[in-house]
Amino acid sequence: MSFLVFEGLDGSGKSSLMVALEKELVNRAISFYRTREPGGTPLGDEIRNMILRKEGPAPTSRTELLLYEASRAQHVDQVIRPKLEQGLWVLCDRFAASSVAFQGGGRDISENEVVMLNDFATGGLKADLTILLDLPVEESRKRRQGRGAQTGESEDRIESEADSFHEKVRQSFLKQAQQEPKSWLVLDAKETPETLFKQLLAALSERGILK
Ligand code: TMP
Repeated sequence: MSFLVFEGLDGSGKSSLMVALEKELVNRAISFYRTREPGGTPLGDEIRNMILRKEGPAPTSRTELLLYEASRAQHVDQVIRPKLEQGLWVLCDRFAASSVAFQGGGRDISENEVVMLNDFATGGLKADLTILLDLPVEESRKRRQGRGAQTGESEDRIESEADSFHEKVRQSFLKQAQQEPKSWLVLDAKETPETLFKQLLAALSERGILK
């Protein structure tokens, strides 16, 4: 079993890459469970709505961080650890690194404090590999707006932050990846979905995650 996390700015193509990997795992008869943060449990989904909605009271930065961590603790206890213990692979759309990037980088909360709260919420559980789909902020904005025009959905509270916020988030992701190259894989999200999938498969096999 492996615990794989997908990270990146909104619109970076995490979902498509996860779908491609899911198909590969099905072909190889590897059992997996796909999940996401914030959310992944009934309580986590309620917390997700509280954080991301644009109407209603907005949390302050520290409250926002604690809400993400509350969702994470519930998710780790009720879903991620049990699934890994059952021998399943877990594919997770965002995890602790997002709190370092968005609340640490974006909201300027001290990184040490975010890491401390991450450790508490995860009970020390770490991803075997975090896959970062790196995308320039301008491209992320274009993709988000394109998706909004297609689906009619408006941006959530975090997506509507200024480009300067998203730039700090991007830089924090890149810094985290640089600091722990063994547990991070950085992909250029401007590549085609086919190329990204090939690069992911090659990296999983090089690192002995996929035989
Ligand atoms: P999603 O749109 O990828 O589902 O994620 C929801 C939003 O929440 C996204 O804009 C990133 C943000 N986020 C944080 O700010 N901190 C976190 O810890 C997580 C998991 C997500």
